[in-house]
Parts: sequence; C-alpha cells; structure tokens
Amino acid sequence: MCGIVGYVGPRDCTDVLVSALTKLEYRGYDSAGIAVFENGRIEVAKSKGRLTDLVAKMEREGKPQGHAGIGHTRWATHGEPSDVNSHPHSGRRVTIVHNGIIENYKALKQFLIDNERTEFLSDTDTEVVAQLLDFYYDGNPVKAIRRVLHEVRGSFALGIVFADRPETVYAVRCESPLIVGQGVGEAFIASDVPAIIKYTKDYYLLEYGEIAVLKNGSVTFCDLHGRMVEKELKTADWDEDSAEKGGYPHFMIKEIHEQPTAVKTTITPRIENGMPDLSECGITPETLKKVNNVFIVACGTAMHAGMVGKYIIEKYARVSVTVDIASEFRYRDPLIGEGDLVIIISQSGETADSKAVLNLVKGTAAKTLAIVNVKGSSIAREADMVIYTHAGPEIAVASTKAYMVQLAVIYLLAFEMAYAKGKIDEGKCQRLTAELMRIPDVIKETIEKTVDQCQYISTKLITADSLLYIGRGLDYALSMEGSLKLKEISYIHSESYAAGELKHGTISLVEEGMPVIAVATQNRLLEKTVSNIKEVKARGAMTIVICDEEADIDPDAADYLIRIPKRYEVLMPMVATVPMQLLAYYTSVNKGNDVDKPRNLAKSVTVE
Ligand code: M6R
Repeated sequence: MCGIVGYVGPRDCTDVLVSALTKLEYRGYDSAGIAVFENGRIEVAKSKGRLTDLVAKMEREGKPQGHAGIGHTRWATHGEPSDVNSHPHSGRRVTIVHNGIIENYKALKQFLIDNERTEFLSDTDTEVVAQLLDFYYDGNPVKAIRRVLHEVRGSFALGIVFADRPETVYAVRCESPLIVGQGVGEAFIASDVPAIIKYTKDYYLLEYGEIAVLKNGSVTFCDLHGRMVEKELKTADWDEDSAEKGGYPHFMIKEIHEQPTAVKTTITPRIENGMPDLSECGITPETLKKVNNVFIVACGTAMHAGMVGKYIIEKYARVSVTVDIASEFRYRDPLIGEGDLVIIISQSGETADSKAVLNLVKGTAAKTLAIVNVKGSSIAREADMVIYTHAGPEIAVASTKAYMVQLAVIYLLAFEMAYAKGKIDEGKCQRLTAELMRIPDVIKETIEKTVDQCQYISTKLITADSLLYIGRGLDYALSMEGSLKLKEISYIHSESYAAGELKHGTISLVEEGMPVIAVATQNRLLEKTVSNIKEVKARGAMTIVICDEEADIDPDAADYLIRIPKRYEVLMPMVATVPMQLLAYYTSVNKGNDVDKPRNLAKSVTVE
C-alpha cells in the first residue's frame, strides 16, 4: 500500500525519484508526487493518476531540479485519489511522504485544531502527521520525529524533508517496510529493494522505531530514544533484470514463465539424498514430530496455497489442518496452544492481517512458521521458523510464481512431516520428493502446451458477466485460486464452488452461455466431477474442462478441453494452475485492462 522513495546525491534527484517510483507503482498507483530541494527551497509536484500523469505534468509545468528529495506513489486509504490528496503533504516547514495508516489521526487532528493549527488542505491522515511534525519542530528534526513517534499510533513509514535542512532526507519506520540504500556518494530510501537496485544493491533494513538521516551521500541511524545505531549493510541477491519485464509485455506473463526456475531454486537446496531437509530453516524432524495440529493462516492467494496444503498435510502426515483467512482468524479468539503449529504464508511478509495473526500467536504456546518470499520482511523476522520461497521479486499484483513456490514448500513440509511422524516410509518419501523435483519441467511443458489454447478460449470469456469455477478435493482448492486470479484482473465476477455442492443452490445461477471452468485432475473423483459438469452443461453452461492427457472425459461434457501433462495426482495443483493463470492473463489482456495494476488493488496490503 503506497510506495515511498528518497534520494540524496549527485544525480538529478527528480529522475532518480521517478525511476524508483516506477518500480514501486505495484504498491499503489492512483496518484504520485515528489518533493525536491531546488536552490534551498522545497518544490513539490504531484498529480492524481499514474506516474506517467505526474511526468506529463512536470513536462508541461517544469520539473523540480535538485539533488535531494522524496517521492510517493499512492493507494488511497483516507480521501479519494485527487491532486490535493496526493503525497507529499506539508506543514509549514515540513514535507512528508507516507506509507501505511495513522490510526489515531482524528484525535491528533483535533489536538492540532485545539492548538490553532487549522490549515488542513486534504482528507488524508498523512497531512495530520506533517502538521504534527511541524508543531513539535524546534530546529531539531530528529527530536521532532521522535516526539511524533510517541504520539502516533498505526503502522507506517515516512520520508521527511525539513525546509531549513536542505539536501537532507529523514526517514522513519514503524511497521511498514523501509530500506535505506547506500551507493557511492549517494543514499536512497525505498519501500522495497527493486526500487533502487538500478543504483545500488547495498542496503540497510530499518527496524521498528529507527530513524535514518541521509546527508552528503551517507547515512546515520538512531533509535526511538535518540541513541545512535550501527546497522548491518546487506546486499540484495536480485539484479536489475529481475525487476524488469525482460521483453515480456507484462510482469504477470513474465512471472508465469519464471515459475519453473522459481520452483527449482526453492526446492533444490531443501533436498538432501532425495529426502526433504528443512534444517536450514530451523525445522527438524523432532520439531515436526511434536506437531499435533496445524493452522494455516494467510490472505488471498497465499490462503489458497494453504487450502492445497490442508489436503496434502492431512493426507500424508495425518495431522488435522485448519485453514483460515487472517482477518477472520485474528478476531475469532482461536483455540491454539502447546503442540500447535501456526503457518503464516505471505509473499510480501508485510500483510497487515497476517502480521497481526503472528503477533497474536506469539503470546501462546503454539509455534509459528512463516513461508515468505521477501527476505527480511516483518513476518519472516518475527516467526519462530521461516522458509523463504525463492521466487525473486513478484511485481504483478496478481500473484502467480509466489503461489507456485508456496505450494512447492508446502509439499516439502508435508512430506518431511509425514516421514518424521512415521506415516510414510523412506522409499515413499523419496518417490514423492523425486516427483516434486520433476515438476519444474512439467510446468514449462504445460505453459508451452496450453498457452495458445488459453489465449483462444479467453476470447470466449471476455463477454461473460459472471462465471463459475468448480472442482472436487484438490481441484476445488485450486479452483479458488483460478477464480480469484480471473476476477482480480479481468473484472468479471467469478465464484469457485465445490462441484458437488452446486446443486444445493448455486446451480440456479447457471444460464445459457455462462462459462463454467471445471478442474478435473483427481482420478478418484473424476466420474463424480464429470457428472457435475454434465449437470451445468444440461442447463446451458459453456464448459471448459482442465484435465490430464489421459482422463476419460465424455466429449459431450466439454465445450473446450484443456489437456495438461499427467503427473502424481497429489502434485497436479502445480500443473493445473498454469492454464488457469493463462486464462486469467489473456482475458485481462483481451479486455484491454491494465494487467499488472488492476483497479482498486495494490501488491502489498499493509492496512487492515
Ligand atoms: O503478500 P501476501 O502474500 O501476504 O498477500 C496476500 C494477498 O494480498 C495476495 O495474495 C492477493 O490476494 C493477490 N493480489 C492475489 O493475486
């Protein structure tokens, strides 16, 4: 939710800020703005719309020229997207950009009004912080920031410039992620590493309550109490290419194609002598043996990976698994304690509700395990154990490769747990693991085999008002993800349903021409699923069936048949997800939508 950047150094500051914001637009894209010191004065340029609208505005009206400044790309929370609500926001001597939420901004605003600070221009919580900083500013910026930190409640990160401290940028982190990049004679702030990777791979990770001061190309840090802090300089293992489209028209399709490599990179280091080995993640057979119940808690696509996990872990490790939406789990007073393992899955590692679950569980005797893609993210650092997925940066808002690697990790975990608990023998564990190792090639083959057909079928979906995804067992878990993928980028209403449950109400929605996408990869359930497909077909549905190349499907049941390679049934979710991603992608492309930045969404959801 929102991206912030800052720069101090010899380059043209506006160019650096715009370039860095381009890489953060996935975090929010309803308005953008910058503030740059020009001849000792803070010049602000901001605009509703995409970053390109801001650039066009600066081309028309002149761009700020200077060597230090801050920038922002917004996902509106308080106040509609508009020029005036765009960041940066200013008090009399202070200008800020903000990512996150200020929970008590109304009380703070009242406090300021009571103290004769009434000049509010926008509807944002951010402007209240700018005014508050100004209120407490007595010529010592760090003191004012620390004072404000003690008064403000919420989850946020700020980039700040003070009018009488030219060529200096201040930054502070309270929950929302913020990194500080260190180049040669220049320094940066950014919400995420890809924003600055073009300039430097070296960065510091700000911790909760830490303040950074960027001046003369270098950085100093202090904590909430004003004590100087020495920080470890990290080096990103992503290169510039991984944050670029690399010749593909959209990040989403690039990321779909990156899945074989992402899975290989994620599983290979965790397999020893043909057996899963998660010891580098702090997970030992002894830890897994002691697990009595598993809770998987996450949001969106990550939660759907958890749905697949439920089937796999229960099947092999014979441990009961409950899957929950993070925003529900945290408020339902869950029964957790000794012997429970709570797995939090998150690509970003910063999702507010998932983070809140982690904090809730930490107060109990249950153990926490994070499955996270972004290194050093809050969830990764705070969990008892962490398995990093090695998908590289996922930029498209619609998650694809992150989901795929989350599945891969869940399989490894399930197999290791099953073996540790004596539910499968070594031979079986090795066979399952060997099959998993073949999956990257199968994903590649599936993309090649289905891409043209999915592109064609998508032309039949673009006029639909609504569609259904159905399946049984693992196919049902998977159809939830297929449905979400399609609706979030095509804007076509879609629902996923357990195929056997349709006749209890939902089948009344089916009418002539309604697309129904059926996933039928589970042989044991094939006949039943085919019956359900025939039921919707008999009521006029246009049926698209995803099944393996050997499945015996009555030709009358399917208007379109997408055949995918046949592997172990249990691993089929990693294969069948590919055509679903492609269908969603091409439907969005054919509708002329902004595939990578669908309306009303943002990549990293750091608000509740
Ligand atoms: O970063 P996270 O994995 O915690 O994000 C969770 C969801 O917000 C995310 O998966 C979302 O549903 C995606 N837009 C789906 O494509």
